[in-house]
Amino acid sequence: MTIRRPAADAAPDQERLILEVFQGRPGAVVSGEELRGILGISRTAVWKHINNLRRHGIRLVTVPARGYRLEAAGDVLVQAAVAAGLTTKRLGSRIICFAETGSTNVEAARLADEGAVEGTVVLADGQSQGKGRLGRQWVSPPGVNLYCSVILRPAILPQSAVHLTYLSAVAVARAIGTISSLKPRIKWPNDILIDGCKVAGLLNELNAETDRVNYVVLGIGVNLNMTADQFPADLRSPATSLLLASGEKVDRVAFAQLLLKELDDLYDIFLKDGYAPIRRLWLEQGRMLGCLVQVDLGNNRPFTGMVTGLDEMGALLVRRDDGGEERIVAGDVRVLAEGSHAAGH
Ligand code: BTN
Repeated sequence: MTIRRPAADAAPDQERLILEVFQGRPGAVVSGEELRGILGISRTAVWKHINNLRRHGIRLVTVPARGYRLEAAGDVLVQAAVAAGLTTKRLGSRIICFAETGSTNVEAARLADEGAVEGTVVLADGQSQGKGRLGRQWVSPPGVNLYCSVILRPAILPQSAVHLTYLSAVAVARAIGTISSLKPRIKWPNDILIDGCKVAGLLNELNAETDRVNYVVLGIGVNLNMTADQFPADLRSPATSLLLASGEKVDRVAFAQLLLKELDDLYDIFLKDGYAPIRRLWLEQGRMLGCLVQVDLGNNRPFTGMVTGLDEMGALLVRRDDGGEERIVAGDVRVLAEGSHAAGH
């Protein structure tokens, strides 16, 4: 049975505000009286919120006769912690955190069907039935990674929804580049790799009619602090985590906030200026232009060529060694050698 236990959704705004007060004054002791004044609630309510935050693992210590001090917000994925200090326009308008759920994508789709607003974010500490692409499973142990689904409701045609996949790939790559010294590559269409090993995957799911999108769920899984023994032995392709690749543990709350900010900024660009800037950023961030690649279309006739661009529909453009131009809409593309020069598109 799936345990459906939201880690925090009740009174989230007050708890977020309390955390923001402490985070804005690192190391400071803040009295219950001051918190009461800031939030305009009773002392008992302050005490209840403090205890609730503590229950979720946030270390707020009592300083006798003076108040409370935040020792560590910890790596606890709760609504208040993710929302504290988040400066997004749309993403995170509502944040729901599950201690465990089957799949955040399934939860997000359910919420979207019930009318959840654009920007709703579903996070889980662990997933029991994490979904990967092509019906595969996404290994989702608790306490170590990021499992995130975002509901968007853009006024676009269904065939343009693929652009949002590129948008999320750029956002993930940028967030990784910011929080670590690693240089991720986007493997077409949407795997994020570090030194050839997959560190993040995207599963964007669409609910649409013929000529309009009802909603898109951007599903994002990033291996943050997974250790080698947590990867199944029979993985199809090599995988890694930021911890394994850099030796540094990543704060999941900080990463979630960074990712939401990147997604929000890029979505803003997309709504204003369309796909063109996203495509340009994808090509830059993906570092695929000019690369020598091997393309396997699943027909037992792999070929090699040079990446020359990404087209309007999201197809990868490859100039074959024999001079022919290919538009790749599905298939496996493996980078054989780095590109030395940019191409058009
Ligand atoms: C892939 O196969 O590369 C896509 C993996 C996508 C995994 C994420 S984790 C959060 C969201 N919820 C899911 O069940 N899947 C996506």
